[in-house]
Amino acid sequence: MNVYIEQVKAILEEENMIAALSNLSAFIKQEDDGLNWAGFYFVTKTDMVLGPFQGKVACTHIPFTKGVLGSTYRSNNPQRIDNVHAIKDHIACDSASNSELCVPVYHNKQMVLIIDLDSSSFNHFTKEDEEKMLQVATCIEQAILQHSWY
Ligand code: SME
Repeated sequence: MNVYIEQVKAILEEENMIAALSNLSAFIKQEDDGLNWAGFYFVTKTDMVLGPFQGKVACTHIPFTKGVLGSTYRSNNPQRIDNVHAIKDHIACDSASNSELCVPVYHNKQMVLIIDLDSSSFNHFTKEDEEKMLQVATCIEQAILQHSWY
């Protein structure tokens, strides 16, 4: 886990936010064979907008009222979903996705980004994966401050 986080920090040394998050999405996906999609949604005033990602073409705008992303926003908490089909308003960008992990990233106590990971396996994401992504979120929060991304 420490080597993983060291690599995340090295990627986030890049000062351009899009370049850094693009590489970070590639890193997260390449390190876990079980992922079919890994990326970011930007929280804006009106909705959540697709950011850098690796995977199939995805929904560009997601309302706060819908999907696992919407639940993340409304609950202010990570969402680890073993079976996305059991979530009534889950948004299926890739029909191959069966489980999902969403982890929020904050700046000045405002949610600014959501890390979104999808897997084609059911029950893919463990508590340890969630904790690891919480650490990645902390690294992004530090990069936001370091590079004045907001
Ligand atoms: N499944 C998400 C939508 C984004 S895609 O997974 C890339 C949701 O239900 O909010």
